[in-house]
Amino acid sequence: MEAPPNVVTSIMAMKILLSCLLFLCCFPDGWSRCSRSRPPKACGRTMTSNRGTFKSPGFPRPYLTAATHEDKVCTWLITLPYGQGIKLLLYGYDFAFERFRYTAYMDEVQVFRDEMCGEESRIRQYQGNDTEYDVIHIPSNTACIKFFRRTTQNHSHTGFSMSYEAVDDNGECGTNGSSISSQEGYIRSPGYPTASYPQHINCTWVIQAASSQTIQVDFLDFQLSYIYSCDFAPDFVQIGSTNRTYEFKYCDQDTPSTFTSKKNMVWLFFKTGRWRNRGFLAYYKASLLPAAYYLLLASLQTLIPEDFL
Ligand SMILES: *[C@@H]1O[C@H](CO)[C@@H](O)[C@H](O)[C@H]1NC(C)=O
Ligand SMILES: *[C@@H]1O[C@H](CO)[C@@H](O)[C@H](O)[C@H]1NC(C)=O
Ligand SMILES: *[C@@H]1O[C@H](CO)[C@@H](O)[C@H](O)[C@H]1NC(C)=O
Ligand SMILES: *[C@@H]1O[C@H](CO)[C@@H](O)[C@H](O)[C@H]1NC(C)=O
Ligand SMILES: *[C@@H]1O[C@H](CO)[C@@H](O)[C@H](O)[C@H]1NC(C)=O
Repeated sequence: MEAPPNVVTSIMAMKILLSCLLFLCCFPDGWSRCSRSRPPKACGRTMTSNRGTFKSPGFPRPYLTAATHEDKVCTWLITLPYGQGIKLLLYGYDFAFERFRYTAYMDEVQVFRDEMCGEESRIRQYQGNDTEYDVIHIPSNTACIKFFRRTTQNHSHTGFSMSYEAVDDNGECGTNGSSISSQEGYIRSPGYPTASYPQHINCTWVIQAASSQTIQVDFLDFQLSYIYSCDFAPDFVQIGSTNRTYEFKYCDQDTPSTFTSKKNMVWLFFKTGRWRNRGFLAYYKASLLPAAYYLLLASLQTLIPEDFL
């Protein structure tokens, strides 16, 4: 006969309490051991610094089968201060898979845009192998990366290595008279990506770089309300290099192409009406080279026919 669930939970609670007391009494780092309340794992950890790297066990040597049941899933958590986003880099990957009759067992990495690591916040899944470099933009101060070792044999697959860096994350409605001065970061509509943007708002973001720089803005996601013509759009985005003359107006669901400022400044304006939708996410980065270089490049591109380049 099985014990009723509440008895099981109270027995578990007792066990945790007892092991906590044991750790508190007997170990100098008792408190941190106790608050973790689970045995330490051989892989995965929590990272809180501005940048970091992490990799599959043994990388770049082939990873082995998990030694314990716990280590079948390695979990890395990134936790940064509020107002920061995460730029994650994956330098290729190589995972094993096994096929038994009609079932395939794939090792894989999953990326989540919060620390809950839940299905609904999963944004990437990698299986098999690829040598391409991938950038994952996470407009959130927390992220979760899980490595699943589902295969049962030791193969010769190297796994993965990743790094991350903190970038600015501007999720408020505009910069309210001041400006953003960081070299790279995210601008997103209020509520993005978990809720739709509010009705009837005007948001203005100003990005200001050093006088020799230009700023590039890439729209990574763009979902405003459907409309026949941008002229009548209740919600739209305008962007330009000065606040007096916006160079482009974007609406509907067409992801805008990359915008490069003519000067060291970007104005981005977002207006909504009575409709609602997911909104937008943009990634900006100030140029490493002086603005003059890009102007020269742009003028060369207009002079030389495209098929020549
Ligand atoms: C990489 O994946 C392909 C299938 O996508 C597979 O045929 C190939 O064997 C894999 N390479 C390695 C080194 O596992
Ligand atoms: C994989 O290799 C490790 C180290 O050599 C060994 O401990 C482990 O038992 C191996 N696993 C299997 C399934 O053979
Ligand atoms: C914007 O700035 C003004 C003054 O600089 C301040 O009074 C106001 O509360 C700010 N609004 C928001 C939404 O932060
Ligand atoms: C947004 O701007 C319009 C004028 O373009 C103005 O009528 C409206 O009151 C503004 N809304 C807010 C919330 O500031
Ligand atoms: C444009 O910016 C200038 C200086 O930054 C400011 O004085 C002016 O009020 C702004 N104009 C608008 C329409 O926001």
